[in-house]
Amino acid sequence: MSKKAIVFGATSGIGKALAQLMVKDGYTVAITGRRKDKLLEIQAANPKQYIIKKHDVTKLEDSEKVFNELTQELGTVDLIVYSSGVAEPNYNLEWNKELPTLNVNVIGAVKIYGLAYNFFHQQGYGHLVGISSVAGLRGNRHTPAYFASKAFQNNYLESLWMKAKRSKSKIHITDIAPGFVDTKMALGDTFGMASVDKATQQIYSAIQRKKKKAYVTKRWGLVAFVMKRLPAKLLMKLA
Ligand SMILES: NC(=O)c1ccc[n+]([C@@H]2O[C@H](COP(=O)([O-])OP(=O)(O)OC[C@H]3O[C@@H](n4cnc5c(N)ncnc54)[C@H](OP(=O)(O)O)[C@@H]3O)[C@@H](O)[C@H]2O)c1
Repeated sequence: MSKKAIVFGATSGIGKALAQLMVKDGYTVAITGRRKDKLLEIQAANPKQYIIKKHDVTKLEDSEKVFNELTQELGTVDLIVYSSGVAEPNYNLEWNKELPTLNVNVIGAVKIYGLAYNFFHQQGYGHLVGISSVAGLRGNRHTPAYFASKAFQNNYLESLWMKAKRSKSKIHITDIAPGFVDTKMALGDTFGMASVDKATQQIYSAIQRKKKKAYVTKRWGLVAFVMKRLPAKLLMKLA
């Protein structure tokens, strides 16, 4: 029987490419996002292996409904990926810029993490993957909500990892922390930018190995090691 997955935030970028890799690998994949035209476009390439569902993760009642509909349609689910994300520089700390980031990266994420964990608990197995960021390692004066939201994801996912391990269940949790990846979100060419293909291959490999945490691309593991140790006074001059 083919494996089954759900990717939240698969209309573009990392989520889309990851879903495409999984489909190539034989998975049936349910993909979500707000842009229905993009979902239809992706599905058209392989109608038998994609299920699509228009979904805004900030509409929390919808999250429960969409989640239940998809799990019922799929029957069993091996893998759930939360890739939805929003990032916006906010130099003047405008509330209307901070709020969408918090709604998608924190509230929306926790809603899906919880639904996924409890579903896997009932099912007896499953693998939850969150796409966080190296941004979660430290603060940033230009984009505070995004960096803080990614730190939140790092800690929440680690908490779920601990919970799953302690319960000796067959639930696996993976936190993927990419550096810069060439998507709309990266806002143009920058230091250490990886192609979507390269980043997604490495993400998929980390998922297959059921890693607890993976920096993508691998060089970001080294950057992370340094970043964790840099004094804030130096860090604020770099970014
Ligand atoms: N690109 C990078 O350099 C980079 C680095 C580190 C981490 N990441 C993380 O990687 C993840 C994917 O980002 P990406 O680079 O692939 O950017 P992207 O191409 O902009 O993809 C973002 C995805 O999030 C979805 N999304 C945004 N708001 C949503 C909402 N309200 N409801 C449901 N889905 C929503 C988008 O779908 P719709 O717009 O159709 O709703 C889209 O599918 C994010 O969590 C991001 O923080 C990216």
